[in-house]
Amino acid sequence: MQDRPSSAPEGGPRHVAIIMDGNGRWATMRGRPRLFGHHAGARRVREVVEACPGLGIKYLTIFAFSTENWKRTQTEVAGLMSLFRRYIVKETRALSQRGVRVRFIGDRVRLDAKLIALMDDLEAVTAGNDRVHLTIALNYGSRDEVARATKRLAQDVAEGRLRPEDVDEETLPRYLDTHVLPDPDLVIRTSGEARISNFLLWQSAYAEYEFIDTLWPDFTADELRGLCVSYSTRDRRFGAVKT
Ligand code: FPP
Repeated sequence: MQDRPSSAPEGGPRHVAIIMDGNGRWATMRGRPRLFGHHAGARRVREVVEACPGLGIKYLTIFAFSTENWKRTQTEVAGLMSLFRRYIVKETRALSQRGVRVRFIGDRVRLDAKLIALMDDLEAVTAGNDRVHLTIALNYGSRDEVARATKRLAQDVAEGRLRPEDVDEETLPRYLDTHVLPDPDLVIRTSGEARISNFLLWQSAYAEYEFIDTLWPDFTADELRGLCVSYSTRDRRFGAVKT
């Protein structure tokens, strides 16, 4: 049984995944460069992570950088990479002290060595924590993840470790970056866009979705609570008929 605090909505989501969208627009509306919005967005990550235990959210997965985000200007990409490095350096102590276990998903090959070292270090330092599991999707794309998983699966078949007839719905997820995580219960996208943008496609097959207008830098713990309460009233049938 999960230890749900009394403040948590009854029947609320255990795994919440968030597409944090709207940083650029938030900054532009203020006449500031897009990176200003990303920095404001990073501060929201802290607030949301801190709210999780009180809401009964054990797993939080956030989309920080997609495999498609490399198409942005060099200035924005470099600024985001620098922001990720600074975030890790600045937040490591607070995350470890608050019992947060951090994992990264996505393909690391295009990331710079310094960032990869910081990611490895943060994962190692927080590996013993279990209060909240924060997964940061960085250079992540669902199709890329499935392609990488399939490649490894095919390798296991080619080398005799797996028989094709044994491949089923339980097999592929074991090769996904998320193999140690439960599937998301609730996927939230901020900023008014109703798209999933290549995020956790396999894992979210039966997730509930919330597309909200708030731009990510304006998103609050209170709003998250409201979405958890609303989730708790939904009737998840997983394809079955209610009896
Ligand atoms: C989408 O907004 C946001 C991103 C591509 C980056 C998300 C990153 C953060 C919130 C920064 C902090 C994250 C961590 C883990 C420190 P957008 O730029 O697409 O906004 P727009 O649609 O208004 O242009």
